[in-house]
Amino acid sequence: LIVFSENIPEVLERLCSENQIDKILALADENTAHLLKSNVFSFLQAENIYVVPAGEINKNLSQASKIWEFMALSCASRKSLLINFGGGMITDLGGFCASTFMRGIPFVNVPTSLLGMVDASIGGKTGINHLHLKNYIGSFQNPLAICINTTFLKTLPKDELISGWAEVIKHGIIRGGKLWELCKNGIPEISDTEAWKILVELNTEVKQGIVESDPREKGLRKSLNLGHTLGHAIETWFLQNGEKLSHGAAVAAGMIIESHIAVGLKLLQMQDYNEIAQTIDGVFPKLKFNADRFEEIARLCLSDKKNQSGRIFMVLPKKIGEIQLDVEVNHSQIIEALNRYARH
Ligand SMILES: NC(=O)c1ccc[n+]([C@@H]2O[C@H](COP(=O)([O-])OP(=O)(O)OC[C@H]3O[C@@H](n4cnc5c(N)ncnc54)[C@H](O)[C@@H]3O)[C@@H](O)[C@H]2O)c1
Repeated sequence: LIVFSENIPEVLERLCSENQIDKILALADENTAHLLKSNVFSFLQAENIYVVPAGEINKNLSQASKIWEFMALSCASRKSLLINFGGGMITDLGGFCASTFMRGIPFVNVPTSLLGMVDASIGGKTGINHLHLKNYIGSFQNPLAICINTTFLKTLPKDELISGWAEVIKHGIIRGGKLWELCKNGIPEISDTEAWKILVELNTEVKQGIVESDPREKGLRKSLNLGHTLGHAIETWFLQNGEKLSHGAAVAAGMIIESHIAVGLKLLQMQDYNEIAQTIDGVFPKLKFNADRFEEIARLCLSDKKNQSGRIFMVLPKKIGEIQLDVEVNHSQIIEALNRYARH
């Protein structure tokens, strides 16, 4: 259930009474706690709010343990509700804690970042990072509801908004149509509440539609990995070389490079490639890495989770609005596409 409303407390009150909730707890991070307190929760008591430090580094077992302890000390029962109020870090961490506490209590996601609204809060994947591996421990558990108020985006830092925009473009390529037309216009003004509502709604339809038809990632859900094989390789390469790069910027470059591969395989027409590249270039500056690094980046594609026994499989665009799953791609095709990206 995804509900759009500028009156989240009203939606929550209804959900709580429909589900006979006995206690409401809320989780936020230090950047979203102010929004939680000022906008949402006149009816939530201060001692029922738990605030974790912000940042991906805190999506870990130690924070999870503290949240379980907070739930226990608050005398939460299986009829209690946890509200996860924040970006994807909070919805992943809170969803994980709720889905495991007493074998699972209900939770509601209230995403406050663009990535959270269009992607992370939807689909039932919860988790924490562990042993230096991303989302290594987790569960599939759907929230009772996802409540979206796009006006929360007004306080989101600009670089986070831009980073989240990569997933918007990804959904646009997958779905085409009206969403793609909106993507081509670039990022709306933050004050344009109506534009954001339409845009986020179209995005949630894409993600929700895909995860509903394939909840456990056996087939269609793989299409959400568009741009991510190269994107993750580039992200890892920058990280290993001590350079900062947002997840969105890496995925954006990944979508252009993977589109090059699709053109090379005669899957994608040049005209569609040009539209994709222009739409991405309009928001994300081109990444600079030297040709002598291409081998390292191509090799990092081997650690992608979609691969099977050393063979690389990608999700590639066939045209705007159509995706091809499980395309086998070889090392030299990746190098060739990286070269083309550097020259485009
Ligand atoms: N479960 C899934 O299906 C799924 C999908 C994609 C990503 N994810 C996860 O999502 C996480 C990334 O999400 P994210 O980009 O939202 O990160 P995040 O939650 O760390 O948020 C980014 C930053 O923005 C701040 N912030 C969020 N909303 C704000 C607001 N309205 N005003 C001011 N500051 C605000 C946060 O405090 C944080 O500093 C990763 O952990 C990733 O693994 C999960």
